[in-house]
Amino acid sequence: MVCSSSSSSVNFLFYSLVIFLTSTTILASYGGRNETDHQALLKIKLMISQDPYGALTSWNNSLHFCDWTGVTCGKRHRRVTSLDLMSQGLEGSLPLHLGNLSFLRWLYLFNNNFQGAIPHELGRLSRLRFHNLELNKFNGTIPHNISSCSNLEVLDLSYNELVGSMPKEMSFLSKLTFVSLGNNNLTGGIPPFFGNITSMKVFDVVENPLGGSIPDTLGRCKSLTEFYYRNIFGSDEGEADEMKFIDTLKNCTRLEVLDISYCNFHGVLPKSIGNLSNQLHYLIWEEDQLHGNLPTSISNLVGLNFLLLHGNQITGNIPSTIGNLQNLQVVYLGENQLSGQIPDTMGNLSLLITLYLYSNMLEGVIPSSLGN
Ligand SMILES: *[C@@H]1O[C@H](CO)[C@@H](O)[C@H](O)[C@H]1NC(C)=O
Ligand SMILES: *[C@@H]1O[C@H](CO)[C@@H](O)[C@H](O)[C@H]1NC(C)=O
Ligand SMILES: *[C@@H]1O[C@H](CO)[C@@H](O)[C@H](O)[C@H]1NC(C)=O
Ligand SMILES: *[C@@H]1O[C@H](CO)[C@@H](O)[C@H](O)[C@H]1NC(C)=O
Ligand SMILES: *[C@@H]1O[C@H](CO)[C@@H](O)[C@H](O)[C@H]1NC(C)=O
Ligand SMILES: *[C@@H]1O[C@H](CO)[C@@H](O)[C@H](O)[C@H]1NC(C)=O
Ligand SMILES: *[C@@H]1O[C@H](CO)[C@@H](O)[C@H](O)[C@H]1NC(C)=O
Ligand SMILES: *[C@@H]1O[C@H](CO)[C@@H](O)[C@H](O)[C@H]1NC(C)=O
Ligand SMILES: *[C@@H]1O[C@H](CO)[C@@H](O)[C@H](O)[C@H]1NC(C)=O
Repeated sequence: MVCSSSSSSVNFLFYSLVIFLTSTTILASYGGRNETDHQALLKIKLMISQDPYGALTSWNNSLHFCDWTGVTCGKRHRRVTSLDLMSQGLEGSLPLHLGNLSFLRWLYLFNNNFQGAIPHELGRLSRLRFHNLELNKFNGTIPHNISSCSNLEVLDLSYNELVGSMPKEMSFLSKLTFVSLGNNNLTGGIPPFFGNITSMKVFDVVENPLGGSIPDTLGRCKSLTEFYYRNIFGSDEGEADEMKFIDTLKNCTRLEVLDISYCNFHGVLPKSIGNLSNQLHYLIWEEDQLHGNLPTSISNLVGLNFLLLHGNQITGNIPSTIGNLQNLQVVYLGENQLSGQIPDTMGNLSLLITLYLYSNMLEGVIPSSLGN
């Protein structure tokens, strides 16, 4: 009796002690906060093979994970809301556990050496707003599950080694304002659904072998301010259709930057270019195969600061209406087949700082007004 009773009280004491110790350990190391986030961060650390600047030395048990370098937590719930490890020279890959940081709003891994796939689990981050993996070595495709990040506003995957096409599921990302996918190996053109994302302000897909043409639907992007498309292997569409998007873009009344160089567009420089936004500051259409005249309608683009049409096959005179573009600062019209005289009106461009007209067939005297 005595023996058995003392054995059970020892047992009781033992278990209480275990429970006590366990709970104090948890309290000590994680302040009783969310263990899922803690485990996810530890997994991230585990997958990092190089940390040249010691960015993750603070990621140890003597600190609460909310105080680790690059980690920010919500004040109330103490869940991870931001992970910012930019330019730390980190090498490694991302664990599936990243998808467990369910309060994450801001993921910023810009300029490191992360490699491997972007995990599909990212799609579980439904609060994610800002997603920047620019300048890493991520490969494989853009995970279609990203479409579940329905609050995503900024997506920057530029300067990686991504392949495949932009997943059609991205059309669900109705809050996107900024998409940068430049300098990858993406193919499959610009999918028409992007036109349906009417919140889009900046769209940058430069330096991809994208192929395809610019879809008409883009004209629905009423908020579009910057559009960058330098298709390294050239457009593969028929000549007649290629320029239709210029008509389409007239609806983008806030357009400030249009960069469509190196796209292998060949056709007459469309007159409707003068219908583009009068807020256009940069018109960059270099090294294509544009021919025909420089339309006089270009003088409607009164907001232009940069007119870069270098390296095409544009013929005819420089229209004297160019003098209306009072905001011009940089004009590159070199390596075309322009002829006739430089118009006097160019002297009206009092803000002009750079004028390249070399390699044309211009003749006559240089107007003295240029001295203005
Ligand atoms: C834990 O992080 C703190 C804060 O950065 C640091 O001072 C300490 O040396 C780290 N401990 C270990 C064992 O790395
Ligand atoms: C976190 O994510 C991984 C992989 O997606 C999963 O296996 C695990 O059960 C998740 N939950 C916790 C609490 O770590
Ligand atoms: C990805 O999304 C699909 C549905 O489109 C879902 O069935 C799958 O579980 C998701 N995968 C992950 C890893 O979240
Ligand atoms: C991505 O890179 C990793 C590591 O460099 C490599 O093992 C893997 O095969 C690559 N995957 C693809 C789809 O290219
Ligand atoms: C794209 O693919 C080509 C050929 O496979 C390769 O040489 C090049 O390095 C890749 N570029 C990027 C940015 O991944
Ligand atoms: C764009 O949205 C409209 C309706 O809002 C839909 O009918 C159409 O199929 C969508 N287009 C694309 C290419 O997703
Ligand atoms: C441009 O806007 C007009 C008027 O809102 C509309 O009728 C037209 O369909 C739009 N064009 C494109 C290509 O979206
Ligand atoms: C667009 O430009 C063309 C050619 O310059 C012109 O005929 C047409 O009226 C313009 N359309 C609009 C809507 O401004
Ligand atoms: C523009 O230049 C021409 C020729 O140099 C000149 O006659 C004219 O007055 C100028 N117009 C304006 C608005 O400065």
